[in-house]
Amino acid sequence: MHYIRFLKPPRLLSGRRGNAPSVLKAKVTITTDLGESFLWANVDLVVELTDGTGNDVLERGKGYTWKGSEGMRSLEVELLIPASRGKESGEALRLLVRPKEEFQAVETFESFLGDSNEHEDTGEMGGVMAVRSMAIDMPSNQSLPVSTSPSMAERTFKFGTSEIHIWEETGESIARHIWDAGLLISAYLASASVPSSRKAIPPLPYLHKTLSQKDLAVIELGAGCGIVGITLCTLFKQQISQILLTDLPEASEILTQNLSSNLSSKNISHQVLDWSSPLPQNVRETQWDMAVVADCTYNPDVVPDLVQTLRRLGEARARASASRQMLVLLAMKVRHDSEMVFFELMAEAGFVVREKCTLPLPVLGGEDEEIEIFVFAMG
Ligand SMILES: C[S@@+](CC[C@H](N)C(=O)[O-])C[C@H]1O[C@@H](n2cnc3c(N)ncnc32)[C@H](O)[C@@H]1O
Repeated sequence: MHYIRFLKPPRLLSGRRGNAPSVLKAKVTITTDLGESFLWANVDLVVELTDGTGNDVLERGKGYTWKGSEGMRSLEVELLIPASRGKESGEALRLLVRPKEEFQAVETFESFLGDSNEHEDTGEMGGVMAVRSMAIDMPSNQSLPVSTSPSMAERTFKFGTSEIHIWEETGESIARHIWDAGLLISAYLASASVPSSRKAIPPLPYLHKTLSQKDLAVIELGAGCGIVGITLCTLFKQQISQILLTDLPEASEILTQNLSSNLSSKNISHQVLDWSSPLPQNVRETQWDMAVVADCTYNPDVVPDLVQTLRRLGEARARASASRQMLVLLAMKVRHDSEMVFFELMAEAGFVVREKCTLPLPVLGGEDEEIEIFVFAMG
């Protein structure tokens, strides 16, 4: 998967004279989730201006080409905005940068779950994810160039009639943007939420059975922006009575933002939970039916603490009820062999893999990748 990102957030330069149009400028790049490699293929992009609610402001967007084959690493984009727009009404404007071709746009959760047999590994398939800026307020004094520095950007995912809006930070933080494994497991769970869509995804019967029960208490560890927990809470409303998204303190602000952008439900909340600290009392005292972990196993130094946290949660559940076990749902993109220590430690902690599956992840201009999903229970 490739992600369009704002390197420099959009800033508005006012026209010098009365009715001269203003210019909205931004610098974008296109990278993988880790940001470690740029998109090597060429992609036609469209830059559009929308109002705060997503409606187009200009008649048509402006086209650009990302020339990855020539080693492009960043692209300056700009739009002319009529002086009449925004400034008088105080209208908030937003910049949307998206791939022009529909087959590259990944707007719906269904579009992430391609069939690995449908294409050969030619590097010609693979999604490029659109990004939308924060609202850029028009200046009240047109003679001054106005430079806004929003630190967040939004990505939208559709599934049926539901839309999930996930804000992420535009900077370098790895805690606070969307990751491939979180994205793919969210798409998987979305399909699992509708019986008729389940045939399009690899079967995980034990997971599906758990997710069909009522009054489920779910905890997510290392939730980041919260995409997985928010997807679960949105699409399994009938089944989940409580869902807690946890991470380090630095993720709290983005989690607050994303919870309020998506859900008004009392069933979902977030709180700090550091794997290297003892479980907070409320977490210790809740009988969790499922713990969700997406893209958290890449750093072998913190994996022992992560497994220890899962063990404490699983043992507390087992002590409370012999009949209902806590299931651990894990999604990972294996990046290096050292990540396998997670499985050794999980086995030592008494967890067994009940089922697993692999989701293909085509990568434009590169070798295809895979996201692996594991369902563990205490043996
Ligand atoms: C790669 S991100 C994945 C985020 C999210 N699960 C997703 O898939 O989008 C890894 C997450 O683990 C969290 N994390 C790392 N060490 C942690 C610790 N000791 N305690 C709690 N969370 C931790 C990070 O803050 C980060 O949000």
